[in-house]
Amino acid sequence: MAATRRVGALVMCILSVFFASLVPLSAFKYFSTKTPYVWVHPSDDKDLEDKWFNDKIGDLMCSAVHTSIVARHGTRFPGQDDVQKISEIHGKLDQEALKAVPDLHTWKNPFPDNDQKSLAELGESELESLGKRTAQRLFSLFAEEDIDSFRYIISSKERARDSSKSFYDGFIKVLQEEVDEDDDDYEPEVMDKLLRFHTICDKYVKSVGENKTAMKEYYDLESGGPVTEIIKKVSKKLGTTEDTLTGANIRTIYLMCGYEAAIFGSSPWCQLFDEEDMKILEYLGDVKHYYKNGAGHDITWKQACPLVSDIFYTMDDAIEALETMDGSEDEDGYIIGQFAFGHAETLGPLFTALGLYNDSQPLRADNFNKMGERKFRTSKILPFGANLQLILYECEPQEQYLNPDDEEAEHAPEYYIKLLVNEKPEMIPGCEELLCPFSKVRESLKEQIDNCNFIKTCKLHPHDEL
Ligand SMILES: *[C@@H]1O[C@H](CO)[C@@H](O)[C@H](O)[C@H]1NC(C)=O
Ligand SMILES: *[C@@H]1O[C@H](CO)[C@@H](O)[C@H](O)[C@H]1NC(C)=O
Repeated sequence: MAATRRVGALVMCILSVFFASLVPLSAFKYFSTKTPYVWVHPSDDKDLEDKWFNDKIGDLMCSAVHTSIVARHGTRFPGQDDVQKISEIHGKLDQEALKAVPDLHTWKNPFPDNDQKSLAELGESELESLGKRTAQRLFSLFAEEDIDSFRYIISSKERARDSSKSFYDGFIKVLQEEVDEDDDDYEPEVMDKLLRFHTICDKYVKSVGENKTAMKEYYDLESGGPVTEIIKKVSKKLGTTEDTLTGANIRTIYLMCGYEAAIFGSSPWCQLFDEEDMKILEYLGDVKHYYKNGAGHDITWKQACPLVSDIFYTMDDAIEALETMDGSEDEDGYIIGQFAFGHAETLGPLFTALGLYNDSQPLRADNFNKMGERKFRTSKILPFGANLQLILYECEPQEQYLNPDDEEAEHAPEYYIKLLVNEKPEMIPGCEELLCPFSKVRESLKEQIDNCNFIKTCKLHPHDEL
């Protein structure tokens, strides 16, 4: 009996050591903007057909007439900076330290030493399955449409192009029978002003992008109390002195843990952290992106107005086309689906411009403990493959609500829009229901849509005119 129990205890012990070294990977979904989409938005692929095609509000029955998606590229390889930094960190840890953690002393840097930030295979499949689900959920909108009813726009980066192609592959797979497929017709348009404005807008580049003071809260947190606590814990695990690793090193290790876990399924670097550490490092990432891509600085979201106005002008055109259609054969259509592929620097400012995820308290170096319920949690809202979708609906009264004496009367359709972020319905700020009158949303964004002056907004010294 006792022997059996002892063996049992031994097995348990071995198992728990085994699992302890396996668990701290994707089980912690706190990789900020380096989180793969599937980790935070696992999707159920069943019963999607036309799920979003019809809707109703009050007495009105609605069907989708247009949709617009802006997606971030999928999971990609790390940039050269981080690839080199992790090799340096590995190099400065001595054998003793490396042997303290399983697999760390035999670790070889698996990442390409170039700065392509190419889309990983996981990134391709993220976008391909997003394309499939998009086609399924609005099947009746897209079916039988000509390929030129769809507009693909991308940034000039290869990973944005590759993401759009993966999306297209998934999209077309679902609609294959229905859409007149001709691969030569798939030619995405490169539009950096809409999707990489953060590299073109001088005022953003100078006052935020290249300005360390604008990121002060981030650097303060990186060298501040909570991160110092992580350094202490990690040093203890490695048996090194507390001045061996810096806060910046800790962040690099955290990023590489995420990249390796995403791309190869596991990483020895992850074993250096526990869940509490991960939450702090996630917050560090959130603080960075709050100032770089969120509400931290006004220019960050103001520079997105060309994208906001493009999205709404395309909807204006759709509505105008619908209202003037007379059903004749050679009538020009309108854009049924607009699919845009960019970056965290595209989607973050767009969220903010629409009023989304703006916490009442700014994210700062000193308020980690108070911000546990923050809206601006990038692991959730801005992972690889993050996406925002607007669906435009045409709504009309149901038959039974029509006055029978009024049978011949024209019922001008009303237009509504619905917002989805990462494929989940999200209330548009200022609206009371998920389905919100188009005119109301357009009115609240009027300034950005109708008075967007990118050159003026992005001028470094606006008072120097004349
Ligand atoms: C850098 O950022 C700080 C803080 O936001 C700001 O006060 C300063 O004007 C910025 N510098 C430039 C060159 O824009
Ligand atoms: C974000 O919220 C703050 C505080 O409520 C507010 O002052 C600011 O105007 C908001 N920013 C945007 C871009 O909506």
